[in-house]
Amino acid sequence: MAPSDLKKVLVTGGLGYIGSHVVVALLLTGKYLPIVVDNCHNAFPEAVKRCGEIARDEMGADAPQPLFHRLDLRDPAAIDEVFSKYDNEGGIWAVIHLAALKAVGESGEKPLDYYRVNVAGSISLMESMAKHNCNNLVFSSSATVYGTPKTIPIPETSPLVPESAYGRTKAMVEMIMQDTCRAAVLTHGDKGLRAVSVRYFNPAGAFPSGKLGEEPRGKPGNLLPLLAQMASGRDKSALKVFGDDYPTPDGTCVRDYLHVMDLAKGHVLSLDALDKSVSSPSDSIFSKLDVKKDGYYRAFNLGKGKGMSVLNMIEAMKKATGYDYKYEIVGRRLGDVPDLTADPALAQKELGFLAEEDLETMCRDLWNFQTKNPNGYETSS
Ligand code: WQD
Repeated sequence: MAPSDLKKVLVTGGLGYIGSHVVVALLLTGKYLPIVVDNCHNAFPEAVKRCGEIARDEMGADAPQPLFHRLDLRDPAAIDEVFSKYDNEGGIWAVIHLAALKAVGESGEKPLDYYRVNVAGSISLMESMAKHNCNNLVFSSSATVYGTPKTIPIPETSPLVPESAYGRTKAMVEMIMQDTCRAAVLTHGDKGLRAVSVRYFNPAGAFPSGKLGEEPRGKPGNLLPLLAQMASGRDKSALKVFGDDYPTPDGTCVRDYLHVMDLAKGHVLSLDALDKSVSSPSDSIFSKLDVKKDGYYRAFNLGKGKGMSVLNMIEAMKKATGYDYKYEIVGRRLGDVPDLTADPALAQKELGFLAEEDLETMCRDLWNFQTKNPNGYETSS
């Protein structure tokens, strides 16, 4: 299809680790044209260039190319300008909203920054969506909304009791979205906003070719990219394990790691489900809802359903890299919870989502990206 025939999807935070892999997954469908907006606070414009290269590698020289606009969600006028720009080209059909500040520990030190970007920024975005009649939204939520859940693996019915400012921003935006979906039914019937929150567990790995991966600005805050940079010698700091006194098998925190491309495909499946809900309303993710009460809104876990501890991951990366990690056990990190392992059954049943790639593949792809990009995205700007 010519680019003009593709459904335009605004991807906020589309330069980021997950966002850029979502852009690739969208391009590879041949149905969606990603329009990336990002303030480059924690990412490089080089990422969107590489997404376009991957599309050409996989689909041929005339593969559709992603579009990019540098903007900050704290600037409502800039957001609106992008929507207006595409109004004359059929308009933006959907938004995948990933842009956010996302470090659990940091959110405890700078809560107002997190509320400004993650909550106020989402409100500005949704106001522009309403103004430009863009009624499909996939929101990047997080397993951290569950806090310390009573049930492991965690079902979507687990209460939202986040224990970090970051997690609270995600839970708040989910509630804002559902309220907005409810209001839309009252004012627009079935022509209003439809939204899906996807609650991420822990993405890992990189695009298999090694052309795209996790490349934050500065030292990675997350365990996996840090382990990769340590093994390559790019990061020479000492590895600290934040606590081994949790109620878990080896005392270190347990997380549910899934391949970043599996996670990215979960976003495409969510968009497909929103599209199908209009064309086949009786057989959709909303068909069992009382939409007048609930709005056209659903939330799904995107996880693998397999918990791995910090020490498990260090061992897995030792196997993948051949690097013998030395680590020091230090105190717990603010906001960490013992175990976030998903029950992925609902997303599998209703979206057809399945995190197929195994841990060895995640670690191998992560290491492949690191070795192919020893200094990250060199042409950074
Ligand atoms: C994993 C485990 C750390 C670094 C992620 C995303 C966040 C959000 C929630 C989606 C924890 C431990 C880490 C280190 C360590 N995702 N660790 N030493 O905290 O689960 O957060 O999921 O919304 O955006 O980042 O991932 O990789 O930071 O930590 O011991 O140097 O590794 O304490 O138990 P986390 P992480």
